[in-house]
Amino acid sequence: MRTPFVAGNWKMNMTAAEAVAFLREIRRALNQIEGIEIAFCPTAVALPAVADVLKATKIGVGAQNMHYADSGAYTGELSAAMIKPFCQYVILGHSERRAYFGETDENVNKKVKAALAHSLIPIVCVGESLAQNEAGETHAFVSGQVKAAFAGLTAAEMSQCVIAYEPIWAIGTGKSASAAQAGSIVGMTVRGAVAELFGEATAQAIRIQYGGSVKPHNIADYMRHPDIDGALVGGASLKPSFVELVQNAVV
Ligand code: 13P
Repeated sequence: MRTPFVAGNWKMNMTAAEAVAFLREIRRALNQIEGIEIAFCPTAVALPAVADVLKATKIGVGAQNMHYADSGAYTGELSAAMIKPFCQYVILGHSERRAYFGETDENVNKKVKAALAHSLIPIVCVGESLAQNEAGETHAFVSGQVKAAFAGLTAAEMSQCVIAYEPIWAIGTGKSASAAQAGSIVGMTVRGAVAELFGEATAQAIRIQYGGSVKPHNIADYMRHPDIDGALVGGASLKPSFVELVQNAVV
């Protein structure tokens, strides 16, 4: 059985001090929720403080990005070894990184391999734009992203990974995909692409989240879909009502 997994992607929000104050307020309530894995992905400079404030809890920590090289002349970047002391997860290939920072499928693939080499669990984001969605290109595009991100992995490595299906048109817009819509892409397209690459058993074993305007009031709809194993939550993970969102995710 796949353990549900809800992660908060804070994006470029919360200083380390704000993160600590916020998490002190909600960590106890979150820690009491059974049957679900929870993680927060703060900015890189807040990782040490967040790891510290969550250390006596079962709540995990993730980074939002990393470089694929172990070290070198990459000004402004962080390697897997540098983030590893503070986190268990790393988000890779978020659509904002693809759109604003030139992240390519090839880069994401290198980063996935580097993360796994350092025993970090990659949360790999895929998802189509509104134009692609309206043109009926969702299946081909998202399937291609999945295959590119995980090319060259072994099935054992693939089974360590988490995928987040985040349709770009649903991110930060309040326009969420319906659970049926999202579930069918997650099941047929995302899990289908993993099955093509690594076989059905691996495809059934990996966790796939939905992301895009997930809120306390709609999370249960997604979680009830048999193919959706959790959520990658942006804006709603910055508020105390994230506790309610996680409670509602246990269905
Ligand atoms: P919102 O939940 O704010 O739509 O963001 C989704 C997202 O991009 C999570 O990675």
